[in-house]
Amino acid sequence: KTPVIMDMDPGHDDVIALFLAAGHPDMDIRAVTTVSGNADIGKTTRNALVAADTAGLDKVPVAEGAGRPLVRMPEHAPSIHGESGLDGPALPVPAHMVEERHAVDVMEEVLLHSEEDITVIATGPLTNVALLCRKNPKAARRIRRLSIMGGGTFGNWTPAAEFNIYADAEAAEIVFASGIPITMCGLDVTHQALASESVVERIKEIPTMAAQFTYELLDHFQRAYEERFHLALPPVHDPCAVAVCLAPSLFTFESADVKVETAGKHTYGETVIDTTAGGPVQIAVDIDNDKFWGLIVQSLKNLP
Ligand code: BDR
Ligand code: CA
Repeated sequence: KTPVIMDMDPGHDDVIALFLAAGHPDMDIRAVTTVSGNADIGKTTRNALVAADTAGLDKVPVAEGAGRPLVRMPEHAPSIHGESGLDGPALPVPAHMVEERHAVDVMEEVLLHSEEDITVIATGPLTNVALLCRKNPKAARRIRRLSIMGGGTFGNWTPAAEFNIYADAEAAEIVFASGIPITMCGLDVTHQALASESVVERIKEIPTMAAQFTYELLDHFQRAYEERFHLALPPVHDPCAVAVCLAPSLFTFESADVKVETAGKHTYGETVIDTTAGGPVQIAVDIDNDKFWGLIVQSLKNLP
């Protein structure tokens, strides 16, 4: 089993990413950590707790992390995720209790006390991972691989920048320069991970709580993407960062050097991708959409 820490800002697609990991027999979630992003930190943490309840992750610590980016003011995405960060399904008061310790302390402890090196899957702004790099570089070096959803050769939050990188570009700059082995699922690949009508119908038929929750998430997500971006089918970004760890053969990759723009007047948060001479970042550029949804469907069937 691959031991993982899930660092997220749930977020519709973050929750689906968590379900994909939780329902797969090859993944062992050691902690869920939250960050400000799609909504403020109180809401992303509440949403993570609700998702953990729904996935039956009773024993997995859920820890709250950074409430704002390193330098900038917080950026949220209510136009996509609603005011709650998770509009659509009913959000009950969670039974799962949040950890008392800060997310970065929990990450540090998991990394230092595990026998095996840990994979970190980051599907929100990279604030917590950057803080970990600064606080305890030795712990950060125990990250076997960091799989991120972020960046790409085009933007969705500005013409140049993808939301997760834009929301904390200074953090992303620290992380990309850290030397941690990184796999990146940017918009180029996540915009192939579209939820078709038939996939949504297939999920609706699965008689588990997690599947019903996912159906309600996708229903809202589809309408939000149509309104905000005029896309008929929504790209379901974050589970790509989990699938790439579970089944790399579903993807094709390019090696690249990636720099993050933090000074540009119109390009703040852009990932500047150089593939001319290879580089340390593995960028996923193509995905087998059918098999990707097959993985998600199977996990949803395995969950409560
Ligand atoms: C990313 O931004 C968020 O709104 C989604 O959860 C995803 O992580 C896509 O740009
Ligand atoms: Ca996210």
